[in-house]
Amino acid sequence: MDCLAIEMLPPNAQHVLESLNTAVVIFDKELHLSSINPAAEMLFAISANQMIGEDLSRILSDSEALAASLHKTLESGHPFTARNILLTLVGGDRITVDCTVTPISSGKDAPKDTQGLLVEINRIDRRLRLAHEETMLGQQVANRAVLRGMAHEIKNPLGGLRGAAQLLERELKDRSQTEYTRIIIHEADRLRNLVDRMMGPNQPLNKEPFNIHRILQHIAKLIAVEFPPTIDLVRDYDPSTPEIMGDPEQLTQAFLNVVRNSAQALKDKGKGKDGGEIKFRTRIERKFTIGKTCHRLVIRTDIIDNGPGIKEELIDKIFYPMVTDKAEGTGLGLSIAQDIVQNHGGLIACQNQKGRTIFSIYLPTGDPDGI
Ligand SMILES: Nc1ncnc2c1ncn2[C@@H]1O[C@H](COP(=O)(O)OP(=O)(O)OP(=O)(O)O)[C@@H](O)[C@H]1O
Ligand SMILES: [Mg+2]
Repeated sequence: MDCLAIEMLPPNAQHVLESLNTAVVIFDKELHLSSINPAAEMLFAISANQMIGEDLSRILSDSEALAASLHKTLESGHPFTARNILLTLVGGDRITVDCTVTPISSGKDAPKDTQGLLVEINRIDRRLRLAHEETMLGQQVANRAVLRGMAHEIKNPLGGLRGAAQLLERELKDRSQTEYTRIIIHEADRLRNLVDRMMGPNQPLNKEPFNIHRILQHIAKLIAVEFPPTIDLVRDYDPSTPEIMGDPEQLTQAFLNVVRNSAQALKDKGKGKDGGEIKFRTRIERKFTIGKTCHRLVIRTDIIDNGPGIKEELIDKIFYPMVTDKAEGTGLGLSIAQDIVQNHGGLIACQNQKGRTIFSIYLPTGDPDGI
C-alpha cells in the first residue's frame, strides 16, 4: 500500500490503534502529533493528553534527521521503512527502532495530497541485545578458559622459582646479596597476585539470601573512604526489590570493580553542580531473558556516572581480560566482575549515553522459567 486515504480508515480505527502492541503515531502535515496509541505512549514515556498538537522535537530530542525524512515523504507521497534508527527520548534514554512511514491522503483519488503521516515503530533493542549477549557470553567463556590455562602454567614454575630464591638466600655468605633474592621473591609474589586475579574467583559460591541494597550501601562506604569527597553518591533504589540468592562476598567484589571504574573515570571532575556523580539505581525487570534463559524476575542495578564515557574503540572489548586504557590498570576488573555475575546466572551490560556511562548488572532472583 502506497498511501492511506483518510476515508479508508474505518470508524473504529482509533479502537484498533489502541489495541495494537506496535507503537503507532500520526502526524499532520506540519509534523504536529495528531494521534498516539498507548503502545507509543509507553515507548516514548509521554502522555497523549500532554503531547497532542506538539511538534516532533518535543517527543524526540535529536529529531532533525527523522524530521527531514518525514518532510520528504510528505512532499513525495511515497512510504518508506527505515531500520536500526537510534532515537533519543526527551528524558535522555536512547532506543533503537525500525520504523515504517505511510502517508495519509485526503482521498484515494488524490494520493499526492498528503494530509499526514502514519508512523509504525518497532523497538528492536531487545533483539539486538540478545544477539549481542549471546556472542559476548560465548566469547567470555572461551577467553576465561584460555586465561585460566595460561595462568595455571605460569603459576606452577613460579612456586619453584620463589622456593629456590628462598633456599639461595639462606645459603648466602654475603648478606648484602640478599637484596637480589628479595627482589626475586617480591617480583614472584607480584606475579602470583596477578596470575591469581587472571584465574578469577575460584571459590565455590557461598550462597545466602540477601538484599542487593545491602551490598550497595557497603560499596558506598568503601568508595567514600577510597576516593576524594568530590564524588557525589546518589541512591535511587526501588524499595520493593526482593532478596536474591547469591554469594554476597563475590558479588560485592563484582559491584566494586564496576563502581571503582566509575570513580576513577571522575578523577578530573570537581565538586558541585558540574562535579562528579555516581548514581546507584535499582529496578525490577519482569520476564527478562539473559542468554537463552527467560527469568520471571530480574533485579537490574545501574551504576551511572557522568564521566567522559567509555572510549568508542574499547566499548566492544571492555569485558575481555587485559583490555585497559590505564597506565596502572590490569584490565581484569570488568572481566572478573562479568565472570562472577555470570556464575549467578546474570549479566553485565554497558552503554554510553549523552554525558552518562551506564553499567547495568542484571541478577535473576529465582528459578528461571525456561523459554
Ligand atoms: N565508567 C567508566 N567510564 C569510562 N571508561 C570505563 C568505565 N568503566 C570501564 N571503563 C573502561 O574499561 C576498561 C576496562 O576496565 P577494567 O575494570 O576491566 O580494567 P581497568 O580498570 O583498566 O584495570 P583494573 O580494573 O584491572 O585495575 C578501562 O580501562 C576503561 O577504559
Ligand atoms: Mg577497573
